[in-house]
Amino acid sequence: MATTYTWLWTLLAFILTWMVFDLIKRKKVGTEETEVDAEETRDGEAHDVIIVGAGVAGAALAYALAKDWRRVHVIERDLKEPQRFMGELMQPRGRLMLAQLGLEGLLSSLNSSSYSLQHKIIEAQEIKSLAIYKDGKNDTLYFPDNKNFPYESAGRLLRNGRLVQRLRKKAASHANVQLEEGTVKFLIEEKGAVKGVIYKNSAGEEITAFAPLTVVCDGCYSNLRRSAVHNKEEVLSYFVGYVTKNTRLEDPHSMHLIFSKPLPCVVYQITSNEVRCAAEVPADSIPSIANGEMVNFLKKTVAPQIPDGNLRETFLKGVEEGLLEIKTTATKRMMVALSDVLILRNLLRPLPSLGNTKKVLELVKSFYNIRQPMSATVNTLAHVFSELLVATTAREGMRQSCFNYLSSGGFRTSGMMAILGA
Ligand SMILES: Cc1cc2nc3c(=O)[nH]c(=O)nc-3n(C[C@H](O)[C@H](O)[C@H](O)COP(=O)(O)OP(=O)(O)OC[C@H]3O[C@@H](n4cnc5c(N)ncnc54)[C@H](O)[C@@H]3O)c2cc1C
Ligand SMILES: *[C@@H]1O[C@H](CO)[C@@H](O)[C@H](O)[C@H]1NC(C)=O
Ligand SMILES: *[C@@H]1O[C@H](CO)[C@@H](O)[C@H](O)[C@H]1NC(C)=O
Repeated sequence: MATTYTWLWTLLAFILTWMVFDLIKRKKVGTEETEVDAEETRDGEAHDVIIVGAGVAGAALAYALAKDWRRVHVIERDLKEPQRFMGELMQPRGRLMLAQLGLEGLLSSLNSSSYSLQHKIIEAQEIKSLAIYKDGKNDTLYFPDNKNFPYESAGRLLRNGRLVQRLRKKAASHANVQLEEGTVKFLIEEKGAVKGVIYKNSAGEEITAFAPLTVVCDGCYSNLRRSAVHNKEEVLSYFVGYVTKNTRLEDPHSMHLIFSKPLPCVVYQITSNEVRCAAEVPADSIPSIANGEMVNFLKKTVAPQIPDGNLRETFLKGVEEGLLEIKTTATKRMMVALSDVLILRNLLRPLPSLGNTKKVLELVKSFYNIRQPMSATVNTLAHVFSELLVATTAREGMRQSCFNYLSSGGFRTSGMMAILGA
């Protein structure tokens, strides 16, 4: 019952995640086996891997493979810092996965000069707890300690675009990585396998590039993976978000989750002096931003449900100031990107060369098998619970039992927080 709560599952998805990331399915026709068995490297192929998209997944993968001596060509549509509102919570487990990729320094608050410099650029905020509020009641739930975990039990709140920029920089600084601005138009498929891509570079030239392996990490609004993934689920709700500037919350180390109606809202510190405010709205009744309905909705419907004081003030201050910066985004089904990067890197690691198509195809198959349990669990639960919460009339009961469960203390609370922290 407690689990019937979309935000929890969204958070759970976050945890386990860092999202959408996919390999192009390399369908192999049995009769072609002897043909593709041979080493296939075209003359002049300068790279072992082409990665399409340098978001969190693509950039992290580029770095991981480059460290394993693969020559990587990353093609990213827009190298400017993404200004978007998603991927702002990195759970404790996400930090562990970053560390396993050798990237923990990007988030670290260690005070060696290079670390603190990076830390300052991202200005990631430590998150230790989830603070929940409902009808005048509140509780604070901490990530439980885990002896097997090399860090304190805390995640990070951050600006996604800044993390992406740091990851891109880190990847591009590796001698084996060529990071280029360009938009991939097509995947070149031959005999059911992807051989490379056709892309338009920043000068507008159309260029063909080949590599033994192409990995498409073009995000949750992917065009290129449309034929490979069947992602037609209905969008039930949207997040509406904006940033309140020059503000420090009284409690900057919690994700503040308010059980508001019709759907929940959150407030959290994302840099030293900026606070993210976001509310979920049902897809069938999104107030219009253009005619002011949205501002009205945030001020008149959502804000009064936020505890009076610091949180509500911060929420209202941002609405007043940030009219033009309000963004909406569909709540998409989420996947497990950093974990995918690790799985793929570990699978490819023993291969001396990626030119053996048959071997690579086998590994890609096991990649899907290995990622399936976590990916399917996260995505199915996220979908089912968001549907339950948004689509049923029993919502208030569910909301209440969720709040009760979370604040009941003991193993229920610590168990749920352990799941949330992954
Ligand atoms: C509302 C919302 C909230 C979220 N909150 C969280 C959260 O708190 N924590 C969390 O871990 N995750 C969260 N996620 C999920 C996460 O933000 C994204 O799934 C994650 O950014 C995906 O990373 P990615 O690298 O796969 O894709 P992206 O970060 O989207 O990167 C894809 C890249 O590919 C590039 N690209 C696309 N097409 C092409 C092309 N044809 N040629 C060249 N380049 C191309 C894009 O420019 C982009 O840079 C959230 C998602 C949503 C929608
Ligand atoms: C900063 O670094 C010094 C040594 O380099 C160390 O003794 C000190 O504990 C560090 N401080 C923090 C807050 O990590
Ligand atoms: C949270 O609850 C406590 C009492 O349990 C109360 O003193 C405090 O003001 C509440 N905080 C908020 C922000 O509502």
